[in-house]
Amino acid sequence: MIVGVPKESFPGERRVALVPAVIPALAGAGYEVLVESGAGAAAGYPDALYADKGARLAPSRAEVFAAADAVFQVLCHGANDRTGRADLPLLRRDQVLIGFLRPLGSPETVREIAATGAIAFAVELMPRISRAQSMDALSAMSTVAGYKAVLLAAATLPRMFPMLMTAAGTVTPARVLVIGAGVAGLQAIATARKLGAVVSAYDVRPAAKEHVLSLGARFVELPLEAADAEDAGGYARAQDALFYRRQQELLARTVAESDVVITTAAVPGRKAPVLITADMVRAMAPGSVIVDLAAERGGNCELTGAEETVVRHGVTIVGAVNLAGTVPYHASQMYARTLTAFFLHLLKDGKIRVDLEDEITRETLLTRGGEVVHPRVRDALAAKG
Ligand code: NAI
Repeated sequence: MIVGVPKESFPGERRVALVPAVIPALAGAGYEVLVESGAGAAAGYPDALYADKGARLAPSRAEVFAAADAVFQVLCHGANDRTGRADLPLLRRDQVLIGFLRPLGSPETVREIAATGAIAFAVELMPRISRAQSMDALSAMSTVAGYKAVLLAAATLPRMFPMLMTAAGTVTPARVLVIGAGVAGLQAIATARKLGAVVSAYDVRPAAKEHVLSLGARFVELPLEAADAEDAGGYARAQDALFYRRQQELLARTVAESDVVITTAAVPGRKAPVLITADMVRAMAPGSVIVDLAAERGGNCELTGAEETVVRHGVTIVGAVNLAGTVPYHASQMYARTLTAFFLHLLKDGKIRVDLEDEITRETLLTRGGEVVHPRVRDALAAKG
């Protein structure tokens, strides 16, 4: 049985789905690993390291797909909207495909994968249950993104982060506000604290307060009651327009007083809520920085442009996309561990077994037997007609 690892084909993507360190775990389960030559090079894993751990190398992508019983990727067709389609003719019936597939964002691509007969699993649909924590690729990538967001902000800000008392006088610490204290936000808080900033944070989910405080940041209390702020999966629920308007009004002062604002607020399956309006940006001091981690989903700041850094009213707004991909060594390591944990979970006596009684399998399985089987994706397709 063979796990195949093609080189990522999305332009500029430096991560790789599997790193040499996880090969022994797969070998122990009876799987040989076949890696496309050069697949790990951009992440800092040369071919020789894979070979040292017992992997075989294949000269071409087509050979990896042809030989593999299961294909591991970071960005599969769907999540890779530039070159992902080229993989469709390489997939075959009952071949397992695991990776990011953006199934709710582009359900029509799931239908295309279903037509190949492949059994596709979308790791972004991993349920938020304790049992699945080690398989949670999205959280792993959010952790890296939260860390990198702070480094970007620090490198852009014309001030230093820590308070310094020097012979040349005292430097006041930077004030960092993190909006959205989920996985990425909490890592951003921790990183900004380590750099010496004074950090405050806000989240609609009341449960986030305790986490924020435990990291030594201040929790911004708003006299605003979110209706059913949290769903059963631990995610935020969407609020109505009035709520978001009130939130903007109430956050305006805290935003204006911050040197750096890092926004991560997201509601699954929806456009990101606008939390920072153009007026709020105008009220910030020149030289301030906003890093918008929700840029890919429309942005938490009204003036954010995805994949671009703009200066508006003297404020630098970084529309951060795929920050995890800019730290490819550790992002790949973490991703590979989550994928391997998930894959081993799917095995029964060395064989891939699609057990629909199991919540983890059921929630992540998109296609099987030529059909789209995931109910939410089917609904999304039906809605599109
Ligand atoms: P996410 O990426 O969907 O959203 C980021 C954050 O934005 C969330 O904390 C959300 O509450 C917040 N948000 C949404 N709308 C907002 C608004 N209008 N204003 C301010 N904040 C807003 O979520 P993420 O970061 O992936 O995870 C959210 C929760 O799930 C966390 O509590 C995390 O601890 C939990 N979780 C549980 C796991 C498990 O049990 N296996 C695994 C990963 C996360």
